[in-house]
Amino acid sequence: MSRPLSELETNIVEVCRRGVNNRAEIARQLGIADSTVRGAYRRLAKLGVLEWTRGGTPNTKLPAGLEPVAPTQNTAAAIDGLTPEDHLTDGAELIEHLIARQDKAMSKALRRHSQAVTLPGDKPVAVALLSDLHFGNANTDYKAIRADAELIRDTDGLFAVALGDYHDNWIGKLIWVANDQPVTLENELALVQHWLNTLGDKLVAAVGGNHESRTKRAAGFDHLKLLLRGSELLYDADEIPFALKLGSAEWKCKLRHRWKGRSIYNESHGMERDLHFGAGNWDIAMQGHTHRGTVFRESYDEREGKIKLTVQIGTYEFHDRYAIQLGMTHRQQSGSGAIVFCPDGRFQGFRDLQLAVEFMRYLRKGG
Ligand SMILES: [Fe+2]
Repeated sequence: MSRPLSELETNIVEVCRRGVNNRAEIARQLGIADSTVRGAYRRLAKLGVLEWTRGGTPNTKLPAGLEPVAPTQNTAAAIDGLTPEDHLTDGAELIEHLIARQDKAMSKALRRHSQAVTLPGDKPVAVALLSDLHFGNANTDYKAIRADAELIRDTDGLFAVALGDYHDNWIGKLIWVANDQPVTLENELALVQHWLNTLGDKLVAAVGGNHESRTKRAAGFDHLKLLLRGSELLYDADEIPFALKLGSAEWKCKLRHRWKGRSIYNESHGMERDLHFGAGNWDIAMQGHTHRGTVFRESYDEREGKIKLTVQIGTYEFHDRYAIQLGMTHRQQSGSGAIVFCPDGRFQGFRDLQLAVEFMRYLRKGG
């Protein structure tokens, strides 16, 4: 031992001599925190005063009655305060914390597979398909975004789902692109918030896009869930499986901003790949991201013997500089489409939201 024991260390050694070798019990007897005893253990073991036993319990090496070494033998400074050990994570404490939250995490994972949106009434309804708004971009059709949002807000039986890229969010390594934006990033968020407020409770599900995920990659948090906090809707940063219910009808839907797998010849390749070779288990699959829509395409599911619908939703950008720069094709249509659902199970997709609304109103009047 190369230094005198502190009062705390001396007290701990004394308790150990009385045969108490349980850290929590030592902490209780001395009226101090368990973590304080843990830190002192490490220092005492390093000094050779205590040694670790197989179970992590210290045995004092000092014979009974031996006092701490006299200060005259001191060759090192006495440290009384936070040492590196005090800043290290204790695995035993950490696993207690993780076990305490595990039940909640498991129940959350299971609830993903039993989610449902039940639309009210027993008349036909329409669900607008909103994606790739790109608030903040100089070439976004703001007139169409506002008109569609107000139409959804003001029309009985018209609801909406949203599939990501709500704003450009040029942060991280692409921050330099923000120089071309007509508004600041903070004001992009104000525009998204205003749009969400306009839609109100008509928006029943929202998934994040790759432009929202820039925040997660650059700063480590999901800002979209903060924007949506308090909203009564389904939300996930990546994927939302849910049952859409109306009357006695039910459709299994899955929303993703983009799906694994792509083809230059088939807009719905990723979704059809999932249908035939992946998880499948949906009646209607939707995506955004490519800006090449809105395109509806049906596909026969051999496993279930049913026809399934895939939807590639378009964008509100009327001019895509990025697509031109890369020599990619870009969409000719601005805005979203919609699907009209009937309580008897029939449904029909429309590229034009206004036409879908007119058709739904006709059906709701009784045809
Ligand atoms: Fe996009």
